[in-house]
Amino acid sequence: MSAPPRLYAPGPVPVPPEVLAAMARPVLHHRGPEFRELFARVRSRLAEVFLVPGDDVVVVTGSGSAAFEAALLACVPAGAEVLCLRSGRFGEKWVGLCRRFGFAVTELAAGYGEEYDLERLEAELRARPGTAAVVVVHSETSTGMLHDVAAIARTVRAAAPDALVVVDAVSSLAAAELRPREWGLDAVVSGSQKGVMTPPGLGFAWLSERAWGRSEGLVPTGTSTSGASARARPRAGRAARRPRRWWRPSTSRWAWSSRRASRPAGARRSG
Ligand SMILES: Cc1ncc(COP(=O)(O)O)c(C=O)c1O
Repeated sequence: MSAPPRLYAPGPVPVPPEVLAAMARPVLHHRGPEFRELFARVRSRLAEVFLVPGDDVVVVTGSGSAAFEAALLACVPAGAEVLCLRSGRFGEKWVGLCRRFGFAVTELAAGYGEEYDLERLEAELRARPGTAAVVVVHSETSTGMLHDVAAIARTVRAAAPDALVVVDAVSSLAAAELRPREWGLDAVVSGSQKGVMTPPGLGFAWLSERAWGRSEGLVPTGTSTSGASARARPRAGRAARRPRRWWRPSTSRWAWSSRRASRPAGARRSG
């Protein structure tokens, strides 16, 4: 038998045989009691991996990027001021995404593979007291740099106490030290294909209570699932809603459709 292909990429990482064997098990009904029990157990253990035992970790059917989008839009109001820290490909990606969503974006750059200047960060925040969120990538996979998110969050709390600290932990969760509660983070987002060693296809997001507090009254506008719904449904013993995406020929873009939005003519619900 030939050796299995080996990916020389920073994820998807090799998946242990036990995970592959679990995936070969018969499909459960995704709205049945067995699945609900399994999903509750997975979410509870995921919260332990995030070092936030007992909290909700939202599971999104999509990639880490979908979870990032859902988390951001769940707690940052439309048009708000967002400070994006960037020092590589993924930091740049979040700058682009925040601009696309219409946030008033300020960028704080560090050279590739370099740490952020915390004094500059403090000055930027003091100059913009209305900053609603600071976005930072913990492990910038494109350069291999692990940023000192604890120090960054401390600086944010001191200079702009109301700003939420939103962390991309796609390649750091379960791979590097990450302490959302102790470090005072507000959103931590990851994906299934890296440190937790499962295949790609799921995104995870944890929000602090103050971030969930900000989500009240916000209308989700993104292309992914609604963070609030992804939290509430499993709590109520209901299966997670699949992301709803309709093809909108008028805009040629996938668009998230809330329950309030009307369904385009001809679109049918599947499943
Ligand atoms: C740091 C970081 N952020 C975001 C992403 C995007 O994650 P996904 O491909 O799951 O959307 C990646 C993927 O490699 C990453 O390494």
